[in-house]
Amino acid sequence: MDLKQLVANAIESSTDLDLSYDEIKDLLEVPRHEGHGDIAFPCFVLAKQLRKSPQDIAKDLAQDISGEGIAEVEAAGPYINFKLDHELVSQNILKEIYAQGKDYGTLNIGKGENVTIDMSSPNIAKPMSMGHLRSTVIGNAIANIEKKVGFNPIRINHLGDWGTQFGKLIVAYKNWGNEEDVRRDPIAELLKYYVQFHEEAEEDDSLNDQGRLWFKKLEDGDPEAVELWTWFKDESLKEFNRIYDKLGVEFDYYTGEAFYNDRLQGIVDELVDKGLLEKNQGASIVNLDEFDLNPALILKSDGASLYITRDLATAEYRKETFDFAESIYVVGNEQSYHFKQLKAVLARMGHDWQEDMHHVPFGLITAGGKKLSTRKGNVILLEDVLNDAVDLAKEQIESKNPDLANKEEVAHQVGVGAVVFHDLKNDRLNSFDFVLEEVVQFEGETGPYVQYANARANSLLRKAGFDESKVATQHEFALADEDAFAVVKELNLFPSIVEKAYYGYEPSVIAKYVIGLAQSFNRYYANTRILNDDDQLNARLSLVFAVTQVLEAGLNLLGVQAPKEM
Ligand code: ARG
Repeated sequence: MDLKQLVANAIESSTDLDLSYDEIKDLLEVPRHEGHGDIAFPCFVLAKQLRKSPQDIAKDLAQDISGEGIAEVEAAGPYINFKLDHELVSQNILKEIYAQGKDYGTLNIGKGENVTIDMSSPNIAKPMSMGHLRSTVIGNAIANIEKKVGFNPIRINHLGDWGTQFGKLIVAYKNWGNEEDVRRDPIAELLKYYVQFHEEAEEDDSLNDQGRLWFKKLEDGDPEAVELWTWFKDESLKEFNRIYDKLGVEFDYYTGEAFYNDRLQGIVDELVDKGLLEKNQGASIVNLDEFDLNPALILKSDGASLYITRDLATAEYRKETFDFAESIYVVGNEQSYHFKQLKAVLARMGHDWQEDMHHVPFGLITAGGKKLSTRKGNVILLEDVLNDAVDLAKEQIESKNPDLANKEEVAHQVGVGAVVFHDLKNDRLNSFDFVLEEVVQFEGETGPYVQYANARANSLLRKAGFDESKVATQHEFALADEDAFAVVKELNLFPSIVEKAYYGYEPSVIAKYVIGLAQSFNRYYANTRILNDDDQLNARLSLVFAVTQVLEAGLNLLGVQAPKEM
């Protein structure tokens, strides 16, 4: 229910201002202070038209305006403040929520069209970094939000499984590698070889030549090269999948860079046919002057393809295969230039659908102020972070609720949820520092705080033996007190929050919202004896039930679970 709509109706029907309904509605504001009413109308724009001061206009108009759902109208300086009929309004809002049940907040912006989401996309034989965690959880949340607003999200893991580094890795493995070590701890071992390769190559440049040679062999299908590459890839995937399982994220496709190998020639041919490919010092490039961008390097002088060549093939494949309404790439900010070039090349090729491709960038996570890197071996392993978070959660649960039945499971939901939530509550472009102890806290603006509010609400319902099947038909929603109304007002925002998160590709909108809802519920809980056995008991419980529904839906959109007890 749109509260501004109520007020706009009242203003339109009881005045004859020279403003349309929409103009009136757009002017309405939600005052920061509760004491200023629920909605305010600023009179400044009317001053010229009515040749009066905004103060006088407010005073005059306030006397004329009345309408359904409006309890008080009061002039306050140049503003007219409206206080709504809280009983009536909450009744309407809650009725709407109960009627929609689990579908509350669902929107019909999409008509089931496909939206591809390129997300996670770690590099084979390297640890998944905190940056890949960001891409995984932001991508997953965006996919959930796309679904909620009516699209069909397709989650694609564009694994980094091709490129000259695999030649280097093969050389390193052949020089220093040991099969058993790799089987035991694949990514850590392979990383070690890779780091050693870079160290030794600084002294001995011939290693780089060998690396190039082995990559060429790999490209030409040499059996030994392919076998090693396949093995590195399989072992890496096993580890990545362990992390995805922990996070509860699933992919529709694991089509990495190598998947597009046999489409690269097609891209080159297309560029040649369209007269776009130019030779430059032996390399092949596409000029992007008209976009104010540097030329895109398509083939090196030795004929090797590049990252962007594979992304061109990828983009065409996705358009052909999924006919996407939108194609989203959740990839770090540092690749913005790459995606600008990618879209520009596609534009020069005449592919107008490149306008539906969106790079959704995000900032860095630092640990103790340090940038994380994989090249130097200075890494924070995501799996360790998640395991530590689960352990911390377990300790807290142990002290708060030692008798909890499924402690292990809840510790997992809380620990992992805490890491995911922390990632998502920041505007995605902001960089932020990650301090585990702050993330797994039951107080403050954290995931566990929101989960705990939800568990507390659920425990009230359990204690009272609340029967949720009655909720849709019961009509005692009339709660007059102000803390209850604050909660209802928050609940009412959910659909508009989903919409805002969708348009901005910004899951943090939802994270911030559930924090606010949890806070307003906790205030209500602190000030009200919810289980008091009076004639409002059912109304209060119904409100608590609505809170659990929306908190759970919000957390789930973020990919965070909502245990009913913790
Ligand atoms: N593997 C790349 C990296 O870790 C990210 C790939 C992103 N997706 C893409 N289609 N380029 O930097």
